[in-house]
Amino acid sequence: MSEPFLSVESVSASYGNISALHEVSLEVATGEIVALLGANGAGKSTTLNVISGLVRATHGHVRFDGEAVDRLSADHIVQRGIIQVLEGREIFRDMSVRENLEMGAYTRKDRAAVAADLDAMCDIFPRLRERIGQRAATLSGGEQQMLATARAMMARPRMILMDEPSMGLAPLVVEQIFDTVRTLNREQGITILLVEQNAKLALSVSSRAYILENGEMVLNGASADLKDDEAVRRAYLGA
Ligand SMILES: Nc1ncnc2c1ncn2[C@@H]1O[C@H](COP(=O)(O)OP(=O)(O)OP(=O)(O)O)[C@@H](O)[C@H]1O
Ligand SMILES: [Mg+2]
Repeated sequence: MSEPFLSVESVSASYGNISALHEVSLEVATGEIVALLGANGAGKSTTLNVISGLVRATHGHVRFDGEAVDRLSADHIVQRGIIQVLEGREIFRDMSVRENLEMGAYTRKDRAAVAADLDAMCDIFPRLRERIGQRAATLSGGEQQMLATARAMMARPRMILMDEPSMGLAPLVVEQIFDTVRTLNREQGITILLVEQNAKLALSVSSRAYILENGEMVLNGASADLKDDEAVRRAYLGA
């Protein structure tokens, strides 16, 4: 790989005296979809939070597009083009679907392009167009996930960090969300780092994957190979 778009280099992080990550490294190339897998508590969300500046690394570095970003504030990291879709999909519950989407673009000045993007997101997620005036709190779980993803896209990110987009959703909705992940990657060239408990699905959409265990990176490789790996199958795919 030439200089990676994103590189996490030997990052450690802790909460008080509880260590959550120990010298974790990973790389994502421009335009790639990479999956980050692991059991509950393995450190997946913490890894995303370090990249997006919500949690400070105690050791190691994060580089994005040739620049060290591990000392930047979360706001500045957003400005560099990295957007995180949080676990539990933090939408603005009392705002309408339209207002949520507009909030996603609040740093942008190009109002005409914002309007066009809003329209494009409604093409990708027709459900959102039908419910454009509805209060976000009253959307179903799957619709809230669509809104969170679409809102993140409204910032025109260069890279998107997705934390368990399938959580709590019916299989059909999950398929739809993953189709969208593929579409965003293919049509908009968005680079994606995807955290998932649903390893099977994540390995089917990503080109490469990393596996975290108790805060340490234990394995990485091509997703197709990991899918067929006996140890991975036993530990993560329920086979
Ligand atoms: N705010 C916090 N304060 C204290 N400990 C935390 C905090 N957030 C996470 N941890 C701990 O850090 C470890 C890693 O948590 P993390 O949320 O990164 O795991 P995860 O892989 O995302 O798990 P899950 O699949 O359940 O979301 C866990 O042991 C967790 O209890
Ligand atoms: Mg998590």
